[in-house]
Amino acid sequence: MNTQPIGIFDSGIGGTSIFKEIHALLPNENIIYLADSKYAPYGNKSKARIIELSIKNTELLLAKDCKLIVVACNTATTNAIKVLRTQYDVPFIGIEPAIKPAALNTKTKAVGILATKGTLSSELFHKTTDLYSNGINVIEQVGEGIVPLIEVGKTNSEEMKALLKVYVEPMLIANIDYLVLGCTHYPYLIPLLSELLPKHIKIIDSGLAVAKQTKAVLEQKKLMNETNAAPKIEFYTNGNKAVLEAILNKTFKTSELDF
Ligand code: DGL
Repeated sequence: MNTQPIGIFDSGIGGTSIFKEIHALLPNENIIYLADSKYAPYGNKSKARIIELSIKNTELLLAKDCKLIVVACNTATTNAIKVLRTQYDVPFIGIEPAIKPAALNTKTKAVGILATKGTLSSELFHKTTDLYSNGINVIEQVGEGIVPLIEVGKTNSEEMKALLKVYVEPMLIANIDYLVLGCTHYPYLIPLLSELLPKHIKIIDSGLAVAKQTKAVLEQKKLMNETNAAPKIEFYTNGNKAVLEAILNKTFKTSELDF
């Protein structure tokens, strides 16, 4: 059982930011990653459609014998994880925007959150935000257009910089000291965001927390891979392989697959 792979899926290549954290913390584990790039972005799709796509990805990972599934997508987590957990026995790890640490640590009492429309409009996001944001000004911004640019490899383009400039403007006016990246594609924007934001603004995401939670659940359910063999890491995309390879610095095997 414990040499079975961990399955990870995202609407595209963004969840590789989560894969990197998981692989660093759990270097023995075999991993299968699905980039559902053909259907990206999920952010503007209906809840029903996001659930449908999440089920499709889950079924494929289960067919590949995964022992645990990481939903490496805030949009899919906030809209579909409840359904996945009711329909399947395998443990699911989700990702949500790191509102809690930002709200607990802000000195200016203002935090910015950049995420997809699907995440920001979800019930789960509102529940978490309401729980922690008492007395705090939360500036929500939909990152419209960001994911499609990352999916075509234009992460560090002038086009991206222009978009981000517009999105952070209201946050700067509100004097935020924390910017929460609420989409797994966005950690790849940190170099550009660091150019645009004053140094005292901390940029946070949930990648490490998800990796730690994955480890904790594997331990608790006695699913850790305790062998010392080199891990088998496989990436599958139903989109353009070259973009996925580039974001992984060509370190791992990637294949195109129609799913
Ligand atoms: N990477 C995803 C997230 O964390 C989804 C982005 C999208 O497909 O819109 O929300």
